[in-house]
Amino acid sequence: MKLTVILSLAALGNHGTLYLSLFLPAPGLEYLYTVNITGGDAAIVGQGPRGFRIVVPILSGTFAGPKLKGKTPGTVLPIGGDWALIDANNINGTLVPDVRQTFKTDDGHYIQVFETGATQPDGSAWVRLTYETGSEKYYWMNSIIAIGILRLVGPSDLTIDTWQVSTQG
Ligand SMILES: *[C@@H]1O[C@H](CO)[C@@H](O)[C@H](O)[C@H]1NC(C)=O
Ligand SMILES: *[C@@H]1O[C@H](CO)[C@@H](O)[C@H](O)[C@H]1NC(C)=O
Repeated sequence: MKLTVILSLAALGNHGTLYLSLFLPAPGLEYLYTVNITGGDAAIVGQGPRGFRIVVPILSGTFAGPKLKGKTPGTVLPIGGDWALIDANNINGTLVPDVRQTFKTDDGHYIQVFETGATQPDGSAWVRLTYETGSEKYYWMNSIIAIGILRLVGPSDLTIDTWQVSTQG
């Protein structure tokens, strides 16, 4: 593996402070899965001390990806939802999703998904995801770092494409 080392030196004032920084190759991203979700009616909880809360339940969903696909896509159980918060102090009304989803793979394994992030100027939301499972087959998901892009594709339909951080940059 090629190692890129950038050394930067700076002498500051009379102290002659030396800054040494080492940049290793940036990690890459590996496509993980896409999940399609149909939400239910939003509950407008309203303005509280932490911001404007909107809760949207998950009615149904499906997911599939290279390492998560069996014969058929997995299902998103009608358990979770998005406890979204519009930041009280944000002048642009950034919405912070706070999503919980429970995945059931087509071969019967359960994966709990947590995700949060922020809406972007183009209307999508960038999210960071974490996973919990006791499944031996999917145990690797407990320790990955994953990101996603969430897009509304209908009045109550959304799609989230996800990637995991991989070693190769
Ligand atoms: C998600 O929806 C898109 C667009 O309809 C479709 O192409 C894709 O196969 C769906 N994926 C899953 C896992 O349901
Ligand atoms: C609000 O949006 C404008 C235009 O996209 C951007 O320049 C600014 O940084 C945003 N402000 C905040 C607090 O996000």
